[in-house]
Amino acid sequence: MTSSGRNPEKKRAIYGVVGFPVKHSLSPGMHNAAFKSLGIKATYLAFEVKPEDLPEFLKYVNSSGIAGLNLTVPHKEIAYKCLRNFSSEAKSTGTVNTITNRGGKLHGDSTDAHGLLASLKEEFNIRTFKNKTILLLGAGGAAFAVAEKLALSGIKTLYVANRTLEKADKLTQKTERATGVKCVALPLDAKAVSAIIADVDILINATSAGLKRGVKSPIPAASLRKGLFVYDMIYNPPLTALLKEAKKAGAKTSNGLGMLLHQGAKSFSIWTGKKAPLNVMRNALKKATHHPCK
Ligand code: ATR
Repeated sequence: MTSSGRNPEKKRAIYGVVGFPVKHSLSPGMHNAAFKSLGIKATYLAFEVKPEDLPEFLKYVNSSGIAGLNLTVPHKEIAYKCLRNFSSEAKSTGTVNTITNRGGKLHGDSTDAHGLLASLKEEFNIRTFKNKTILLLGAGGAAFAVAEKLALSGIKTLYVANRTLEKADKLTQKTERATGVKCVALPLDAKAVSAIIADVDILINATSAGLKRGVKSPIPAASLRKGLFVYDMIYNPPLTALLKEAKKAGAKTSNGLGMLLHQGAKSFSIWTGKKAPLNVMRNALKKATHHPCK
């Protein structure tokens, strides 16, 4: 292969998602459908790489001619530390979910926040975030990836609640400094959340609680109400304990499948320079999640 990311023999570019574990990723189906529909000779694979092996793997990518990668849990912050060239989104979040091989130089980008905002608008029919108050649960990599862009979307206040308060403090201080938007850190407990929940328009789960089936909702059911928008960045399982309780309380709910779609569409455009075929990608996701064996 050449370092341009093309393979002259097979004329087929290789892309992929790197995760650990990765076998349940829906990204290969979504991107392969998109490449096919636009007649682009490319294949998108899944690479299972342990976090400690990521630096070595990226060195290999650099020289192998792999054209582009997505990174998923737990690689987004490690990838940031391995790269030198970034978009402003990657730089401000300290996370990378998209890598483009630019002639042997790896360029890091972050499309998660774009994916989240596009999905929130679509799922909840929100035209503007102006004057909204958002409660973001979590202060790990997923929360860092989206907080700044959420704050810059026109909102009034961003609350960040996390089990470990110091991490929420770090995220709110960084976000408020960068954006000038009021950001408040809270412990993720019933008392602190119930004190502010009446002001909240949109609740977003960016914790990993809910990834495992059977784990309790990070928010007490009594804090959920009709009229609240509740978005869980998790899409597998499709209905987390938080979403179940939110639905029961009459809140409008969405899982993170739309975020996966829109972050993937932006990665696709970065790699190919083309508008992503959103409906093709959306149908591929729908097909994969409605598979009778799942
Ligand atoms: P990711 O990249 O998915 O964000 P991470 O960086 O490990 O993963 O962050 C996981 C987030 O989920 C953290 O905010 C974590 O809280 P702590 O900072 O206190 O560890 C949160 N989290 C994980 N399990 C949780 C649980 N059972 N209840 C509440 N929060 C949880």
